[in-house]
Amino acid sequence: MNRKNFIKNSSIAATSIALMPSTNLFSRSNSNLLKMAVIGVGLRGQDHLELLLIRNDVEVVAICDIDDQMIASSKETIIKSGKKMPQIFSSDKYAWKKMLEIKEIDAIIIATPWEWHKEMVIGSLEAGIKYVGCEVVLGITLQDHWDVVKAAEKCKANVMMLENVCYRRDVMAVLNMVRQGLFGEIIHLQGGYQHDLREVKFNDGIHPYGGGCEINQKGYSEAKWRTEHTIRRNGDVYPTHGIGPIANYININRGNRFTNLCSFSSKSRGLHKHVLKTCGENHPNAKINFKLGDVVTTSIGCANGETILLQHDTSLPRPYSLGFRVQGTEGLWMDVNKAIYIEGKSPKPHQWENAQSWLDKYDHPLWVRWSKEAAGSGHGGMDFYVIHAFIESAKQNIPTPLDVYDAATWSAITPLSEQSIIMGNETVDFPDFTAGQWIYRKPVFALNDNF
Ligand SMILES: NC(=O)c1ccc[n+]([C@@H]2O[C@H](COP(=O)([O-])OP(=O)(O)OC[C@H]3O[C@@H](n4cnc5c(N)ncnc54)[C@H](O)[C@@H]3O)[C@@H](O)[C@H]2O)c1
Repeated sequence: MNRKNFIKNSSIAATSIALMPSTNLFSRSNSNLLKMAVIGVGLRGQDHLELLLIRNDVEVVAICDIDDQMIASSKETIIKSGKKMPQIFSSDKYAWKKMLEIKEIDAIIIATPWEWHKEMVIGSLEAGIKYVGCEVVLGITLQDHWDVVKAAEKCKANVMMLENVCYRRDVMAVLNMVRQGLFGEIIHLQGGYQHDLREVKFNDGIHPYGGGCEINQKGYSEAKWRTEHTIRRNGDVYPTHGIGPIANYININRGNRFTNLCSFSSKSRGLHKHVLKTCGENHPNAKINFKLGDVVTTSIGCANGETILLQHDTSLPRPYSLGFRVQGTEGLWMDVNKAIYIEGKSPKPHQWENAQSWLDKYDHPLWVRWSKEAAGSGHGGMDFYVIHAFIESAKQNIPTPLDVYDAATWSAITPLSEQSIIMGNETVDFPDFTAGQWIYRKPVFALNDNF
């Protein structure tokens, strides 16, 4: 695998994706393995590591983390897999820079806290790595996102956000339906991150599934760093699970683009109440003032006239739902009630129909093809697809189906929503990271018969 050998013209590359014969998964010879590294083998990084270890087309050559416990459990996983132990970098918080000196890395996965992503992505690009897979989100500030876009362009390299929800089975079946015109012309979409994370944000590592009231140094996994974002920031701090699928439905950056945005934040009560209920008013964290509103609602306008409603809701008691709604001139799908209505096709006018038979009928060809391989992988199988797409792109030396413009555009919702809230819910303009190329770029996501 030659890292320097990159396809420069993405429009030629996009065409070649459609023409590319599908490769035979797991068929690469040992001498031609994709050499991969992972920075951050916390809970998410270990999910990725497991997926890499079961593939016969990948060799994990290096891992890096600063947490001994996470390194120890990663080592156990590697031993169990029977694969060669990679080089391990763990001396300090910049050990990843030493790791990037390894010349043989073809592709890298970054699964560290958000505040490290920009620096690690750019560091990887500057080290000459042509395939960088970054966990959600790409950076913190708007400037971070510009910096990553410019670095990827300068290095002629791929940065793919590992946004797994784009590959959720129902989400992809609905993409299939959208592309076949079942909903007519798309008018309005909704989604978000609606997940009770109170026991993730407060996690002492003692309770088996999270819990307690500890954060930062005393916290475990995301409680070590994510909670701090809820103390200091107010905006949609996790937009990509909702916006990724929505962007694919309406071809954002490929014939369409986000034009402007406006956010509203509710008051903040959920996390404080959680500490009081769990640990009592005398716990030091009962004094924390959380800046993040419990429900942050963002409206986004699009160049082609669609509207989007996005919500971030992670601090209150609630069952999980990403709250998707895809609505067009002929009908709509909603995931919270798992229902659909297509005018003239649903059995009764004005009545919801269970969506499952439609989702089965329009199951996406990639799910038909890979569902056996995906079975058992994380989040209902979608984790397999996102890693598979990243690896196959690197193996074939072609652009990733989600690229740096998607990563920057989706992640930029956070600083823009923060800005809107600070400015009294004013509408702010959305930057165009593609510099006008969105008009000419063609959709590529999930249009390949392999990934
Ligand atoms: N797509 C999904 O479904 C999904 C699910 C969970 C998490 N995530 C994302 O994955 C990322 C990681 O989250 P997580 O849940 O694994 O958190 P985590 O805290 O469990 O893991 C992060 C790891 O990064 C390590 N780290 C921190 N600073 C480092 C440095 N300077 N050098 C090397 N390692 C460093 C930490 O020690 C830790 O092990 C985040 O971006 C998160 O939003 C995505």
